Amino acid sequence: MSKPIVIAVDGPAASGKGTLSRRLATQYGLRHLDTGLSYRAVAQALMAAGRPLDDEALATEAARAVDFSAFDAAALSAHAVGDAASRVSVFPPVRRVLVEKQRAFASQPPGAVLDGRDIGTVVCPHADVKLYVTASPAVRAGRRHREILRLGGQADYAAILADIERRDARDMERADSPLRPAADAHLLDTSQMSIEAAFLAACAIIDDALGGRN
Ligand code: DC
Repeated sequence: MSKPIVIAVDGPAASGKGTLSRRLATQYGLRHLDTGLSYRAVAQALMAAGRPLDDEALATEAARAVDFSAFDAAALSAHAVGDAASRVSVFPPVRRVLVEKQRAFASQPPGAVLDGRDIGTVVCPHADVKLYVTASPAVRAGRRHREILRLGGQADYAAILADIERRDARDMERADSPLRPAADAHLLDTSQMSIEAAFLAACAIIDDALGGRN
């Protein structure tokens, strides 16, 4: 059987990498893992148990217990959980435990699309294709703002923008596995692109990279 195909998709919060990754997985017949959910699951377990988020040993224990086959995406999508996930993700032992599980997921045939912050740099440095999806903070905040309004919620654009900037700073400035493009990643700046245009651009990059494999 041929080696599993791995597509790494990294980028900052609200860059659209999740939506793009799901579509790419369908397009190429691969499994999909949103690695952000694994960090969110650690944060959610601590919050649900009323435990602090700044205790490395507790967070590591919670990471060991995370079951990758049973993410409750609805509970994990809460805004507060995302922010808490960014906080527990700075602990190196938490990252080691989750990265090992992420690699195990990626290694099963026929392969997978993994999206996160450190897939191309740390989790799957030998991925067949690496994409780094980004957009300006203002564009990302605008998209998130419209999405919340579309779902009938209430949101303050300035607060969302400040939140995105704070999360970017924490994810990019942490010592262990900071968010940054791998040296061999293809940059996809979607600031001026529709979801469809970003999908087509990603497919062109992937088809070109996999051309030698198929
Ligand atoms: O992609 P997301 O918003 O669901 O991620 C939540 C947090 O989890 C993010 O702010 C940082 C952390 N994370 C990480 O450190 N490494 C990953 N591969 C994915 C997410």
